[in-house]
Amino acid sequence: MNVINATVPTPVQAAREIESFRNDFPILKLKINEKPLIYLDSAASSQMPQVVIDRLVQYQTSQHANINRAVYELSEIATSEYEGARRKLQRFINAREDREVIFTSGTTDSINLVMHGYGRKFFKANDEIILTTLEHHSNIVPWQMLADETGAKIRVVPANEDGELLIGEYKKLFNERTKFVSLIHVSNALGTINPVKEMIAIAHEHQVPVLIDGAQAAPHMTVDVQDLDCDFYCFSAHKLYGPTGVGMLYGKAKLLESMQPFKGGGDMIASVTFEETLYTTIPHKFEAGTPPIAAAIGFGSAIDYLLSIGLDKISDYENELLNYATEQINDLAGVRIIGTAKNKTGVLSFVIDGIHPHDIGTLLNEEGIAVRTGHHCAQPIMQRYNIPATSRASFAFYNNKTEVDALIKGIHSVQKVFS
Ligand code: ALA
Repeated sequence: MNVINATVPTPVQAAREIESFRNDFPILKLKINEKPLIYLDSAASSQMPQVVIDRLVQYQTSQHANINRAVYELSEIATSEYEGARRKLQRFINAREDREVIFTSGTTDSINLVMHGYGRKFFKANDEIILTTLEHHSNIVPWQMLADETGAKIRVVPANEDGELLIGEYKKLFNERTKFVSLIHVSNALGTINPVKEMIAIAHEHQVPVLIDGAQAAPHMTVDVQDLDCDFYCFSAHKLYGPTGVGMLYGKAKLLESMQPFKGGGDMIASVTFEETLYTTIPHKFEAGTPPIAAAIGFGSAIDYLLSIGLDKISDYENELLNYATEQINDLAGVRIIGTAKNKTGVLSFVIDGIHPHDIGTLLNEEGIAVRTGHHCAQPIMQRYNIPATSRASFAFYNNKTEVDALIKGIHSVQKVFS
């Protein structure tokens, strides 16, 4: 167990103009259809800076071995780098202890871990779990599987026309059968920032634990799990300038200790006989088999990179960009923004009268512009607005106003093709 003073490193790159960080991302120099790539799909997966790519190469070329299994030097180095990445995450989210941070394969895996480890152990028929209209499928389907298996019931917090959750309705959902709340911090389809701290406090008045899906929040704002007082928090590395295949689950130590493992195998045991297996302690109890070692170390490097810029600086810049894009789109005839919450980050979803989002995406691609089109793995929100899909531009600090202008020009061209 490693209890640390959770001081976040001081931003050392603060003197650099935020626009200059774009140069750290080699992929942004690509041309698509002979046009400079304009990457507006960071909510689906962000790009990786050279420093993280270099870290992965350095690890693979000089530090790789399996971890926790051998006493030779290379294995000890790999183990120490992997555990070092865990401590970086601990500091990043201000967890009390590093054993409260579990490496998973991503947000979806983290939620499934809690569903299996906590839900399957503690839920029974007619227990209730509260979700929200804004959830994406990763935070709906696992709980439906649990409901099918146990006879538990899902209750859903509705949202208003702007895409903001109705907190009064949320409060009314609690009763003596409420067992769990699982909710998204920032909506991937609309960009709404939910008042999670307030919602956690309400759940705790009823002694109900809360999981926060922070996949779309962690890249854009400081997350402090002690301040939020959430019971679980999760996100993925690949939306946070790190590699695919790795993510994290934070859980309060007491809760994690009370849970059953999700996956069985090597490294999660204290002892094994054919009669009985004793599990090891957290976090390793939840990390069966060889974990994504290289990706976890790359995750740590991405965290270093983000902190060296400073999340406040990132957040101010991205909000300015989002406001600029929102104003430009609001000025376009025949274009409607879906998701107009007062508190938003990162995401701008829109529909254009008479044009299917897939056609919009295809035509924008011809201009080198990458946006996601579809239901964004969040069909209940689309149903809320009675639409099948949207086009979604999502922003990172490597985007700029010139790219937003190109998007607006691209939308004009799409409208012209269909006029
Ligand atoms: N959840 C990811 C997105 O919003 C994949 O695009």
